[in-house]
Amino acid sequence: MAQSVVKAPLQDPSNMDAERAIGLEMRYALRRYVTGVTVVTTLDEHGSLVGLTANSFTSVSLEPPLVLVCLGLKSRSYAHCVRQGRYTINVLTDEQGEIAQQFATRGGTRDDVCHWRLNERGYPVLTASLAHFECALVNSVVAGDHAILIGEVEAISLGEDTRPLVFHDGQLFGLAASASAH
Ligand SMILES: Cc1cc2nc3c(=O)[nH]c(=O)nc-3n(C[C@H](O)[C@H](O)[C@H](O)COP(=O)(O)O)c2cc1C
Repeated sequence: MAQSVVKAPLQDPSNMDAERAIGLEMRYALRRYVTGVTVVTTLDEHGSLVGLTANSFTSVSLEPPLVLVCLGLKSRSYAHCVRQGRYTINVLTDEQGEIAQQFATRGGTRDDVCHWRLNERGYPVLTASLAHFECALVNSVVAGDHAILIGEVEAISLGEDTRPLVFHDGQLFGLAASASAH
């Protein structure tokens, strides 16, 4: 499976000011880096699901268990994650490419584009994901146009051990069976 997401047209950096050119080069260079794909979910003040697709998920520390995700300051999810103080990082399978695209769309409701539930600890989890990290926000550092949210992992649940969704060169893929064989 390959689903195109954000193929911006190539531009000539020599026609731009230095700051814009480096920004563009950074986008191109980052496309060469392969990541998994997560959806960060939390609740708004009415209890509705909010969230966004994020590939900036990274493990930080094992003791204590800390993970980070970088959220755009203008994203709806950033404000809700900070206000709520807790959120779930759902690691997507290669069957969840459509969900990744829906949660990468600005605007619109999230409740009706996926199956999800509030678990026994009150965290919103997406059904059939590879793994759920339930995070309590312990630190938020604004860095440029994003904020680094550091969360302490309060609980983890694992779904079926199936193939992950990956992001490379602006496209969502499933891994070939041989690449994920144990
Ligand atoms: C593969 C992929 C990875 C993304 N990773 C991030 C990310 O790490 N942080 C971020 O702020 N936005 C990321 N985005 C963009 C958001 O998903 C997008 O801006 C979303 O519409 C924000 O939704 P919200 O405003 O409802 O929170 C990513 C998009 C895609 C397609």
